[in-house]
Amino acid sequence: MLAALAGVSASLRPVRGEMADPPLDALAKDAATALSGKGFFVLDNFLGSRFGADARLQAEALDAAGHLKPGKISKGLTLEEDTKVRGDRIIWLKHTNLAGTQKRAEPPAGKTQQSNPLVGHATLEMLLEKLDQLRALIGPEIEITLNMATYMLACYPGAGTGYVRHRDASPEHPGRRVTAIYYLNPDWVDADGGQLRIWPNDAGGDDIEHATLISPLCDRLLLFTSTLEHEVTPSFNTRFALTSWFYNRSEMQAMLLHEEKEKSDLSDKMAARKELKELMARMMAKKILAAAASNKDGKDSDGDQEQ
Ligand code: OGA
Ligand code: NI
Repeated sequence: MLAALAGVSASLRPVRGEMADPPLDALAKDAATALSGKGFFVLDNFLGSRFGADARLQAEALDAAGHLKPGKISKGLTLEEDTKVRGDRIIWLKHTNLAGTQKRAEPPAGKTQQSNPLVGHATLEMLLEKLDQLRALIGPEIEITLNMATYMLACYPGAGTGYVRHRDASPEHPGRRVTAIYYLNPDWVDADGGQLRIWPNDAGGDDIEHATLISPLCDRLLLFTSTLEHEVTPSFNTRFALTSWFYNRSEMQAMLLHEEKEKSDLSDKMAARKELKELMARMMAKKILAAAASNKDGKDSDGDQEQ
């Protein structure tokens, strides 16, 4: 009887989106040890290759529906596209649990339905849920309250696109604490490039030979301390990844305040500079007028002399 029931439930299990169930608490402990050591952690076969392949299909569907837009970088006061710096297109995803999804089915009276592209992509939703569970377990292990997360799906469309060396958080004002990436690229080969190059805590130098290369293999989970420098090497195949950033909410708020202040300082500086430029322009204009006037005087007086 039991065996028969077990047989039934096994045959009813969805083939697509089937998820291995990794022991997350042991994983969180291992990850925390690695994070406080060299600063990064790689785990293969995180949720199963079938799960990874299905997540890839759902990521492709979101992209095909036009939901992914060019990634931006902050330049001074604004966010700008610069494909020389980063060549991906992205979408920020909202994590929804089942309850959330049900709530959204009936928007409050007078409010229009907020569309969430993630809805209907059950494998990606499950992936976000797993990453969220991991966040909650890692916090206590690294003794930081990680009570917030964001999620981004990114696609580098090949043709040599990548992301230049950068940090996801500044060491002085960390907003993001941990970067977690789940790669979605079945059949990826070294010649496809698109590797993540990371400079670990014990790198011992700035050069490329001190860095570690990590291929974006399907069902691979990578965690790293967000302050570590890293880059995405040029990619020659379509490369998908789902990234979650784990935050401490109050640190993140402090970081935003700091950024606001920097921006207002910068805008003060820019205003001062504009003021100076205008002053210079006025002075130049005055000089030119004066020169023209004296030239005219001179000509007039020359003329006078000639007469
Ligand atoms: C990023 C990033 C790395 C990757 O989006 O900030 O560094 O491997 N991504 O996709
Ligand atoms: Ni990054």
